[in-house]
Amino acid sequence: MQIRTESAKDTKRLAADFAEKVVTDLKRNSAAVVALEGDLGAGKTTFVQGFARALGVKENVLSPTFVLMKVYKVGCQMSGVRCYPKHLIHIDCYRLDSPQDLLHLGFKDLLKDKDAIILIEWADRIKKIIPTKNIFWIKFRHGKLPSVRTISIRQGQET
Ligand SMILES: Nc1ncnc2c1ncn2[C@@H]1O[C@H](COP(=O)(O)OP(=O)(O)OP(=O)(O)O)[C@@H](O)[C@H]1O
Ligand SMILES: [Mg+2]
Repeated sequence: MQIRTESAKDTKRLAADFAEKVVTDLKRNSAAVVALEGDLGAGKTTFVQGFARALGVKENVLSPTFVLMKVYKVGCQMSGVRCYPKHLIHIDCYRLDSPQDLLHLGFKDLLKDKDAIILIEWADRIKKIIPTKNIFWIKFRHGKLPSVRTISIRQGQET
C-alpha cells in the first residue's frame, strides 16, 4: 500500500489509522514490530507521534536519537480494545554502530514481550536482527514539494 501525505498532520492521521489496524490485526504471540525506513526528516518520528497519540500515550513523543530507546505507557481508550499493547517502545538506530549494540540492550527479550509494540526508526540499519513475523515495514520518501511524502506500508520482512 502506498500513500501520499501533504503535511505532518496528514502523516500523523495516517499513523493513527494504521495504529488501529496493527492493534486489531496482529498476532499476540510476540511483540508487534513496526520498522521505519527513510532519509533524515522524511517523517519517521512524526509518524510515531501520530501512532502513539492514537494509542493514548500522554507524553510528548520526541526523537530518541540520543537515548536510543524510550518506553511509553499506552492508554486504554482504543475502540473496544482493552489495554493492548501495554507499552510502546520507540527505538532510533541512527547512531547505532552495529546491530550488536541493540542486542546488548536486550532487544531479543523486548521482541518476546507480548504486551509491547516496538517502532524502530532507521530499521534498515539492523535488518540482520529484525524479526520476519509480526512486523510491518514502512518506507518514507520525500516528495517534490517540501510538505509531500510518499509512504509505503507492507506487512512482513523487507526482502
Ligand atoms: N507530509 C509530511 N509528513 C511528515 N512530516 C512532514 C511532512 N511535511 C513536512 N513535514 C515535516 O518534516 C519533518 C519530519 O521530521 P521527522 O523528525 O518526523 O523526520 P525523521 O524521519 O524522524 O528524521 P530523522 O531521520 O532525523 O529522525 C517535520 O519537521 C515535519 O513537520
Ligand atoms: Mg526521527
